[in-house]
Amino acid sequence: MKGLILAGGKGTRLRPLTINTPKPVVPVANSPFLLYQIDLMRSGGIQEIILSLSYQPRKIEDLLKDGSDYGVWIQYAVEGTPLGTGGAFKNAEENIDSTTVVFNGDVLTSLDLSAVLAQHRERGAIATLVLTPVDNPSAYGLVETSPEGWVQRFIEKPGPDEITCNTINAGIYILEPSVLEYMPKGEAYSFERGLFPTLLEHKQPVLSFILDRYWIDIGTPHKYLEVHQDILEKKFTSPRVSPSALDRATLPLGAIVDEKSIIDQDVTIRCGVRIENSVIGRNCKIDEGAQIIDSVVWSGNTIDADARVTSSIVGKGCYIGRSAVLRPGVVLGDKTVVTDYSQL
Ligand code: GDD
Ligand code: MG
Repeated sequence: MKGLILAGGKGTRLRPLTINTPKPVVPVANSPFLLYQIDLMRSGGIQEIILSLSYQPRKIEDLLKDGSDYGVWIQYAVEGTPLGTGGAFKNAEENIDSTTVVFNGDVLTSLDLSAVLAQHRERGAIATLVLTPVDNPSAYGLVETSPEGWVQRFIEKPGPDEITCNTINAGIYILEPSVLEYMPKGEAYSFERGLFPTLLEHKQPVLSFILDRYWIDIGTPHKYLEVHQDILEKKFTSPRVSPSALDRATLPLGAIVDEKSIIDQDVTIRCGVRIENSVIGRNCKIDEGAQIIDSVVWSGNTIDADARVTSSIVGKGCYIGRSAVLRPGVVLGDKTVVTDYSQL
């Protein structure tokens, strides 16, 4: 059994954060995102993982190397031009000779992967799709199932009149190698618009597994902030979420950091600073009276005196000037300079 992680998308919806940091390795609670997925693969007994890359592959390879630091063995399948989700799987065909667990490289979940694998084997499916209920399926792949759990219909990004149920494709699949026979080689191809509807047309046994645990696609700034709020509220827990490195005894006069916030190492916090419900990366400097509320701040940032950052995301190495104000929804790319007293 092997794992394959689809991590080749450009992460356009997360720009500007993904200009220098490909989406699969953006920090989530200060750990590169893919590490959470590697942990999940391991929880299902998978040790060999193919990482399917296209956009900025070197940055991902340099970080994860052969995977041995994370208890797995990683092989890389790099596409010159993006081949789509299905094309990426077909591209790795030579390495796929047994049941394969496939993840979209941007979903975070506390799925019981062993339970999905057990059900897949027991019921003899060619493919199992993990589904999750959502309020609005329009941004996802809608999946209709029979009362016995067999998939009956798959509609990617359904229009308003196509929404017939609330279960969507969670971007986690168990696939038998025989699905490769249904896929064209060397061309762009989609699991969602190509393979899954084709398997259903051919009356192949495609099974569903409905998640009743935490699940999120981190691929937009809104969702990226949401996942951090969920982590701080412990709706999602994982050993990858490193505990706050803050030593409260060293906090200067009048500085307040709430219990929830996660502060990474080597962060300087000056007098009168207020940090609430936020995640702060390494080597940040937060000056007198600055406030950071409900926000995610990557590493190496300077937040100058009396600046206020609320419900915003700050990339690496930015300078936020004195008394500058970041109102809810601001997303700053790496090395942004916000001049003193600016309001965004
Ligand atoms: N290697 C490779 N090559 N990977 C790709 C490519 C490609 O050409 N295109 C996309 N990917 C990867 C992305 O990096 C991401 O991890 C995953 O495939 C899914 O792509 P997204 O662009 O994030 O798709 P989506 O979020 O709009 O929709 C998908 O995920 C939903 C769940 O979050 C679909 O699978 C939906 O059906 C699903 O509901
Ligand atoms: Mg996505």
